[in-house]
Amino acid sequence: MKGIILAGGKGTRLYPLTLVVNKHFLAVYNKPMIYYPISLLMLAKIREILIVCNPEDLKLYKTFFLNGEHLGVKIDYVIQEQPKGISHGILLTEKYVGNDSVCVVLGDNLFFGHGLPQILLKIKKDVEKNAGSYVLGYYVLDPQRYGVIEFDKKGNVVAIKEKPKNTKSNIAVVGLYFYDNTVFDKIKKLKPSFRGELEVSSLNNLYLKEKKLKVELLGRGFAWFDMGTYHSFLEASEFVYTIEKRTGLMVGCIEEIAYRNGWITKNELKKLAAKLDKTDYGKYLLNIVNEQK
Ligand code: TTP
Repeated sequence: MKGIILAGGKGTRLYPLTLVVNKHFLAVYNKPMIYYPISLLMLAKIREILIVCNPEDLKLYKTFFLNGEHLGVKIDYVIQEQPKGISHGILLTEKYVGNDSVCVVLGDNLFFGHGLPQILLKIKKDVEKNAGSYVLGYYVLDPQRYGVIEFDKKGNVVAIKEKPKNTKSNIAVVGLYFYDNTVFDKIKKLKPSFRGELEVSSLNNLYLKEKKLKVELLGRGFAWFDMGTYHSFLEASEFVYTIEKRTGLMVGCIEEIAYRNGWITKNELKKLAAKLDKTDYGKYLLNIVNEQK
């Protein structure tokens, strides 16, 4: 399975913050926003990662992450000239993905919760073995802002509606999707929505129509943030700050995950820590280097 991070878009809801800086580079407490979706893919043990970005940001991303080798992963990049939708962004990865399946995560989404890696690994295994697709649902108070999963009385999924004005369901589709290799042919059948985008909900509905869509609900023990507005952006920062301060453990620390996955050596981690030695981040990495196993 290959990992795709959608890190394009204009971030208009964060203007003026994002007038010249792409939102995925903004700090969510002590690290750039994009560390959170990258860490998620790494927790799912996905080592081939493709970042979809705007043309003007390609150089920045490449300078920042290089080819990913220092993190024990392989990072490639593809340009999305215009933000024509999430499904459009996925379609651009077709050549890179080849015959593989994909895990797609939105660059502005943050997930946290005990047991999350196990859930990701379970879904990955299922899609790799049995094909089909998965979306993850999360209870929210404001479903109108999201793709919403509607269920019948027996709990079967009947539809996924994009930003519905009226819905009885509070289950939002989060920005994390797993698809088999038919995803590209399906996207090619989609037509742009009224806002001119190839919508991810339309794609998910195609899988649903074929009875090839599974839903995994994330319970109340999980935190999910879409960091695309001032409020949610600040809330995510506060959340990371609170958890890290209380537990002493970092959220979304990609160097730590690379090391604990066995993808980089202690010495390599030490070198990464040395670059950050003036910060608590660097000290945290050094503590891991000095851990007695
Ligand atoms: P959105 O929040 O829908 O769009 P945006 O980031 O441009 O923000 P705004 O609505 O404030 O203008 O995008 C969700 C995520 O998907 C975000 O991380 C950017 C990414 N994305 C792409 O990479 N390509 C796209 O075409 C779109 C629409 C989004």
